[in-house]
Order: sequence, then C-alpha cells, then structure tokens
Amino acid sequence: MNKKKLLGIVASYRKSGNGEIVVKSVAERLGDGWELSLINLPRLRIDPCKGCYVCLLPGKKCMIKDDVEWILDRFLETDAIIFTAPDYILGPVAIVKMLADRALQTYGLLGELAKKKTAVALTLGREDYRGYADTALVAQVHALGLNVMSLEYFYGTHPGEVVLAEDYVEKIAALAESLESDTFEHEVPPNRCPQCFSYLFRMRDGFCECAICRSKAKLEERSLRFVEFGSQFTDEGRREHGEWLVMKKLEYSKIKDKLKVIQDRYRGGRWLKPERGSD
Ligand SMILES: Cc1cc2nc3c(=O)[nH]c(=O)nc-3n(C[C@H](O)[C@H](O)[C@H](O)COP(=O)(O)O)c2cc1C
Repeated sequence: MNKKKLLGIVASYRKSGNGEIVVKSVAERLGDGWELSLINLPRLRIDPCKGCYVCLLPGKKCMIKDDVEWILDRFLETDAIIFTAPDYILGPVAIVKMLADRALQTYGLLGELAKKKTAVALTLGREDYRGYADTALVAQVHALGLNVMSLEYFYGTHPGEVVLAEDYVEKIAALAESLESDTFEHEVPPNRCPQCFSYLFRMRDGFCECAICRSKAKLEERSLRFVEFGSQFTDEGRREHGEWLVMKKLEYSKIKDKLKVIQDRYRGGRWLKPERGSD
C-alpha cells in the first residue's frame, strides 16, 4: 500500500518534549495509512534573512547556504504537515520566526505549498501567559505558504505533561481529522478571526480590526460579528503582495544612487563586539 506522508515539525529543543509527543500522537491517530517523518528545527541551521530580496526574482535563489531550502523541499514532498512549537515568553519559540523570516523565497512555490494541509499545535505552560503565541504561530506558518487547517493548544510544563489533560485525545483527533478529511471545516471559537485564527484586534474607524489579516468586526452584545474579510490571508492577497515586493526590488536599481547618498551620510559608527579568545 502506498502510504501518505506526514511531516512533523518540532520547534522545541527538548527531546521527547510535548510538541514531539503531539506530533507522534497525531501520526498514531492517522493510523497505518500514513508514514511520519520528523524535523527538529533547533537542530538545523537557519540563518538570518539578509534582506537582499534576490530570491523574489525569477530564476534566482536565496544566496544563504543553510538548511532552509532543504526544509522547503521536505514541505514540497509531503502530503500533510503537523507543525508544533512551544510558547516561549508569550510568543512562539524564536526558531519559527527565523524560518518564517526566510519566507520570501517561497513566493515561487506558493501554488504547491498551498496544497499542503497543515495542523498547528502550540504547547504552553499556562493560559494566562499565552500572550500572542497562538496568533503569531499561525501567521508565521501561513507565511511559509502552508495551508493552515487547524490550531490546538496543549497545556503542560514538564515534557509529557500535555498527555495528562482530559481533552488530549479529543484535540489530537481534531488535528488528525483536519489533515485527513476532505470536508473538514475548522470551527473557529467565538471572538477569534475566522480567517486567520487571530485573537488580536485593534480599534480602527469604529471596527475591531484583526491585527493579522485586517478582517473587520463589530462588537455586538459582547461578541464579534465579522463584516468584512481582509485579503492578507487569501491566495490572491499573497500573490498581490508578492507582485508588490518584486516591484519594490526592481525599483531599487532606479533609485539606488539617491539612496546611496543617504546611506553614506550614516555609514560607520562605533560598533561593539564581544572579544573572542583564541582557544
Ligand atoms: C524559556 C521558556 C519560556 C517559556 N515561556 C512561556 C510563556 O510565556 N507562556 C507559557 O504559557 N509557557 C511558557 N513556557 C512553557 C512551555 O511553553 C511549555 O513547557 C511547553 O509545554 C514546552 O513544550 P515542549 O516540551 O514541546 O518544549 C516557557 C518555557 C521556557 C523554557
């Protein structure tokens, strides 16, 4: 039998930590028809984006020689993804943002990556310290071009503790179903953006505006009624932004002499660096 491929992304450095256990539980739940492969992000090399925009140009690739292209190739060859990350200091652990910051190179792959159903799981110690972690985690996974189907939280401080929760099996089943079923529709809890799962809103022009995708809602009887959806989280929105970025990249050659005059005025400075011993 040809098995379907499930890719488990673990953003925690911990071995047999909560995220890894969630990934393996989802794979178990999906059953024998699926084969799980795992990637541990902190054990790979993910360098900072250099901000050169070269990867946006047709036929060009990111010039950084690290493991990011390899990770994207693994995304491309899988059928579905379970992406887990721990909450560190109110946000998703930083390695996820390091990877997401390299996402401009995915613009050429958007059609393919959008086919990859992705379940997202945040592991965290306490609800009171969830912060912006869940909202940011979905936004960062989406930035990589992946099709986010579902989001669950798993509470636990110690490695393995998440399994002790009463609703553990139910949540694992929901994540698995979101990857497996062709008719799955995520049930977004009230007051969460139905388009991008965000819990973060700002007041703008009398509306509550989603901080991530700019969908607009009215506050009615203590709950949000969505009246308009922003394009930032749609395929069309992604394409439009990609085109805008290419336009900005091409504009640079026309105005770079003018910008150089500005830069030259601010070059140099007394930059501090730690001294490194020779041993
Ligand atoms: C440095 C550090 C910061 C943390 N910050 C938070 C936090 O802000 N909010 C929270 O709910 N849990 C926080 N936690 C707890 C972890 O999110 C929690 O233990 C999680 O289950 C770890 O998942 P893992 O076993 O997959 O690494 C933090 C843990 C560490 C080590």
